[in-house]
Amino acid sequence: MILPMNEGNISQIAALEAANFSLPWDAASLRAELENTLALWLVLAEEERVLAYVGTQSCFEDADILSIAVLPEARRRGIAEALLRELERLLPARGVERITLEVRASNEPALALYRKLGYEALGLRKNYYEKPREDALIMQKRISLDPDLKGKIQ
Ligand SMILES: CC(C)(COP(=O)(O)OP(=O)(O)OC[C@H]1O[C@@H](n2cnc3c(N)ncnc32)[C@H](O)[C@@H]1OP(=O)(O)O)[C@@H](O)C(=O)NCCC(=O)NCCS
Repeated sequence: MILPMNEGNISQIAALEAANFSLPWDAASLRAELENTLALWLVLAEEERVLAYVGTQSCFEDADILSIAVLPEARRRGIAEALLRELERLLPARGVERITLEVRASNEPALALYRKLGYEALGLRKNYYEKPREDALIMQKRISLDPDLKGKIQ
């Protein structure tokens, strides 16, 4: 089940961050996100075990994906896709109309994932990443409120 991140998820997400990224979110920064009203972090867990998570912050019409990762043994089962689709369902209710992200230009699995979901390349940020230095591709998707939800919210 996909649920908002809670305190019990933090140490596992910090471990996944450290395993996947050269500049990881640490436990203290993740914990601060629990109090951040602009943040939405979603977690897919089995029992108590975190299989995957995605983190966002939004400001008015724009949300940024800050991080997304799936445990290596749980990949290619549609989990990242399910997390991103859940964001598309939840974020419009916060007024979000666009989701933007940066991705390493060489990260083929992630690029394939975002393209499959309809994210479009907006441009390149030269040397955006460190350790190792690499360009970032900026990608964006427009999202809109599910017509079924519209009537219920207004
Ligand atoms: C990128 C990542 C999040 C994808 O997670 P995942 O759960 O394996 O992805 P899904 O199973 O939901 O895949 C959905 C689609 O993405 C694409 N995709 C995912 N992994 C792929 C791969 N290794 N090779 C090619 N396409 C891939 C496919 O189009 C796939 O659809 P399909 O299975 O119908 O072909 C995962 O590989 C990961 O955690 N990588 C390390 C962290 C990372 O790079 N995060 C992204 C930072 S921008």
